[in-house]
Amino acid sequence: MRTIFWNEGVAIIDQTKLPEKLEVVVCKKVEELVEAIRRLAIRGAPALEAAGGYGVALATVEREFKSLEELKKHVEKAAEMIISARPTAVNLSVGVKRVLKVALKGESIEEVRSLAIKEAEKIADEDVRRNRKIGEFGAELLEDGDTVLTYCNTGRFATVDWGTALGVVRSAIKKGKNIKVIACETRPLNQGSRLTCYELIEDKIDVTLITDAMVGIVMKRGLVNKVLVGADRIVKDGVFNKIGTYTLSIVAKEHKIPFYVAAPTTTFDWDKTSEEVVIEERPKEELIYCGTKLLAPPKVKVFNPAFDCTPLSYVNAIITELGIIRPPYESNVPKLLGLKSF
Ligand code: MRU
Repeated sequence: MRTIFWNEGVAIIDQTKLPEKLEVVVCKKVEELVEAIRRLAIRGAPALEAAGGYGVALATVEREFKSLEELKKHVEKAAEMIISARPTAVNLSVGVKRVLKVALKGESIEEVRSLAIKEAEKIADEDVRRNRKIGEFGAELLEDGDTVLTYCNTGRFATVDWGTALGVVRSAIKKGKNIKVIACETRPLNQGSRLTCYELIEDKIDVTLITDAMVGIVMKRGLVNKVLVGADRIVKDGVFNKIGTYTLSIVAKEHKIPFYVAAPTTTFDWDKTSEEVVIEERPKEELIYCGTKLLAPPKVKVFNPAFDCTPLSYVNAIITELGIIRPPYESNVPKLLGLKSF
């Protein structure tokens, strides 16, 4: 089953319920989808690209409209609302803008609706195809017997299906390589322990869970051959990804362990620098509670950024659906982005 699909509304696997249960909810209103994005029921940059596209499609059908003009105004407003749900992963706005552009060409209410739904479906299908290509290219970087350390969740739940960094692991295994995974739990929302471990166990892929603080000892003992992570936005001077990725890259560099990023070309925002990107800050409650159990005095001050930026100088290669990019990124990224994607 895909993580997100169209079913008379936007159907998503509610990732906040995992690993206890795999539950699908259908958002019938844009407000419901925005809320689902905010609470991370649907998350991960490529899955957010699909959510953005489907969200615009949802805006066209969520109620009746008296005129084409009224529909188009409503859709434009909904698009802004969806983009503002989370600021860091560029893919969300990429998906929204792409479907909006196509939908606004419609010359009747019915045409706008049909164009929007078709374009959103195209994004979802493309995501699956892109991930398969990322997997094929990335698998070449893994050797039989490798143990890969990964962070957050970059698998089927972070995409429409297959995954980016975890897609590389899946593809390498499919090619007959024996690959093991070490998954960091990824505090505070535990995408690593809840989602990565869930989907790897589901696929019978050998996975060992560690806390984020154990990365150093694991590398020092030589238990890891490669680090593979995803990305939320790749700019001229760095890779934005889940908070803790930057620290991980430093430890990997210290131990001379290759650090790879796997992401579709839609995650690149190459005209920007890291200074221009907004890092989402999440509520204090995510840190001071585990469920209903208090982990810290309620009055404590909390800093809870959801992402950080890893300088490109710490990244050995970026795996995309168009091929593997190696340094120097200043010249090699524009060359690759100039190629036609699908
Ligand atoms: O806050 P999240 O769970 O949406 O953060 C997700 C990540 O940081 C992923 O690593 C990134 O989106 C790449 S997913 C293929």
